Amino acid sequence: MVKSMNWGTPNELIPLSYFKQMRATYPVSLKEENGAWDVFKYEDVKAIFTNHEDFSSQGTESMNDPIDTSILRQDPPKHRQLRMLVSKAFSPRMIEGLAPKIKSIALELCDQVEASGKMDGLHDFASPLPIIVIAEMLGVPPEDRGRFKQWSDALVGNDSERYYQCQQEMSVYFTEIADKRRREPQDDLISNLVLAKVDGEQLSDLEVIGFCILLLVAGNETTTNLISSAMLCIDSNADARAQLITDRSLIPQALEEVLRYCSPVQTMIRTVKKTTVLRGQTLTPGQMVNIWIGSANHDEEIFENPEIFDIRRNPNPHLAFGHGIHFCLGAQLARLESKITIETLLERFPNFRRDRSHGLERIESWIIFGVKDLPIILR
Ligand code: HEM
Repeated sequence: MVKSMNWGTPNELIPLSYFKQMRATYPVSLKEENGAWDVFKYEDVKAIFTNHEDFSSQGTESMNDPIDTSILRQDPPKHRQLRMLVSKAFSPRMIEGLAPKIKSIALELCDQVEASGKMDGLHDFASPLPIIVIAEMLGVPPEDRGRFKQWSDALVGNDSERYYQCQQEMSVYFTEIADKRRREPQDDLISNLVLAKVDGEQLSDLEVIGFCILLLVAGNETTTNLISSAMLCIDSNADARAQLITDRSLIPQALEEVLRYCSPVQTMIRTVKKTTVLRGQTLTPGQMVNIWIGSANHDEEIFENPEIFDIRRNPNPHLAFGHGIHFCLGAQLARLESKITIETLLERFPNFRRDRSHGLERIESWIIFGVKDLPIILR
């Protein structure tokens, strides 16, 4: 077992004491300001993920955004059909086949920083990797990578004008690629998406584009934050580092603990469809519910000593990738990318450490957990 974090349990960055207090006192509570419910206990979070009949994934906001019409925001039966179509394109075989490519990208990123002896763990390492991988999967030609990175950054940034402009640019770009692939299929995800059929149905152009944009929004920043959080966890746990260096087969299990400990997606939203009583509180149709994954994954009723970062925790039934019909489609990819990245980092720079002359700052979001910068000394 490994001692808890010295970068603040990580209470300074994730409100763990607040979550603990809410689980004990108001596990289901209504926020007066916006009339939305907050749900903090593991069993309740899991039950809501499971109960898609009474808790809808559809938002109440406008449907102009491709994300709002994407698989993430659909209920059955539409969800089932979309999920089957995209799962066909996003096959385990395709993901496993990416391993050598991911390894070479990770090595290349290490090569680029080696001479300087330092790097920003986020901007030089954890962030570029998932973007290059998804560009590769989609079949974006290497010369368009720069543009692709700009779009990806803009989609998770705070500038809404730039966000919509990028969506327009991406729509034009992907419509063209989709057309080409329909005529001349290649061995890439877009070809699989435009050709996939379920019950004679195919994805429309708009759905293909919406899905490509969703992959960027849902996949890149989350995976980046998993990798950078793993670096933080290793940096502050000498025992864990020593064990991982000696026995690399422990890396996947350690990453599951990072997913539990610093869940990259802290909360998801559902809308109440049918009146439901939860721990004595009555949730009525149309009300929003924030289901706190970050709190559920520290629930003491499920996880013994939840504040301890334990790379050998077993079982570890965390909900970091959600649960039920919307369970993360990219979980296998995120696991593969983070495993290869952390393996490569420990091979190349086993003694990497955080430059403690810089403080840690959380990115400005309650939904996503991650740090803004991560200065690293390599040796
Ligand atoms: C769904 C987390 C990486 C694509 C989800 C959900 C969570 C999640 C919690 C469930 C949403 C809900 O129930 O409403 C994460 C985390 C990741 C990660 C923590 C990294 C550590 C990825 C990657 C991709 C991806 C790499 C693809 C490239 C998706 C998609 C869905 C989804 C398409 C929607 C599935 C559906 O609605 O059926 N993810 N994700 N995710 N994720 Fe991920």
